[in-house]
Amino acid sequence: METTKPGGGMRRLSGTEISKQIKEELKEEVIRLKTQGVSPKLAVILVGDDPASAIYVNSKKRTCGELGIDSIEKKMPANTTQAELLAVVEELNSDPSVNGILCQVPLPEQCDEHEIICSIHPEKDVDCFHPYNLGLLTAGMPKFMPCTPFGVLQILKRSGCETSGQNVVVVGRSNIVGRPLSILMSLKAYNSTVTVCHSRSRNLPELCATADILVAAIGRAEFVTADFVKPGAIVIDVGMNRIEDASHPKGSRLVGDVDYAGIQDIAEAATPVPGGVGPMTIAMLMYNTINAARFQSGMDRFEL
Ligand code: GUN
Repeated sequence: METTKPGGGMRRLSGTEISKQIKEELKEEVIRLKTQGVSPKLAVILVGDDPASAIYVNSKKRTCGELGIDSIEKKMPANTTQAELLAVVEELNSDPSVNGILCQVPLPEQCDEHEIICSIHPEKDVDCFHPYNLGLLTAGMPKFMPCTPFGVLQILKRSGCETSGQNVVVVGRSNIVGRPLSILMSLKAYNSTVTVCHSRSRNLPELCATADILVAAIGRAEFVTADFVKPGAIVIDVGMNRIEDASHPKGSRLVGDVDYAGIQDIAEAATPVPGGVGPMTIAMLMYNTINAARFQSGMDRFEL
């Protein structure tokens, strides 16, 4: 995959471009599957009216359409009870035409997110949030791949960034990104030496500056500055933070966890925000949906 070097020396690792390439590969796989009578289908549950969640869900449905994947949306009001939500998951679990189910989080406060995640059948858990699937991952035999972590790995692979033997520092230990990514990268398939940092880590800038590959997944706008980055490092920014900016037409703009401009002359390569890891997450969700359909039809994994 081509990457671009802007004015500074740093390569810009474009998730937009890489995800386009992957989506083309997936589109061809969907066509092949359909000739074999397999038609992948994703069900998306959206509870409440969080505007960011609505944008994500629309984008997931649109991408399904682009790839020839069927999708259905279960839109539920903000006052949905836990029992009502569990009933919808149950209905989708037992519908054989549905291969993948995702429930967009965060959920309204009356709903118990953990119980909902655990209620999704592990074979339809295309987010790879279920403890069973996280357990398989930890045991080194993943079935589904967690979408954002696998997106990060695809960016590295398709940009020619070696992971084997590299010192990787992951800042953030969330169940969705930091922890599964650190587990994946320590597996034999990737062979990285992984350090996981979090809010209680001492000497954070010094720890980060030991990284050949630095991953920021903390949700704090432009927190990772030049002093965190070793010269020649690869920096992956998983952050998506909306900050106020009066000079911007919308009055706000999206920034990552990394001060992208500030690391231009230090890092060898970095992912921008927007246009970095974000578009990869949806492509990987499509990948998991295709694999869910394959597994449920007795086929093996489609490899990327
Ligand atoms: N909310 C933010 N990211 C995600 C995601 O990847 N999956 C789901 N289900 N909800 C999210």
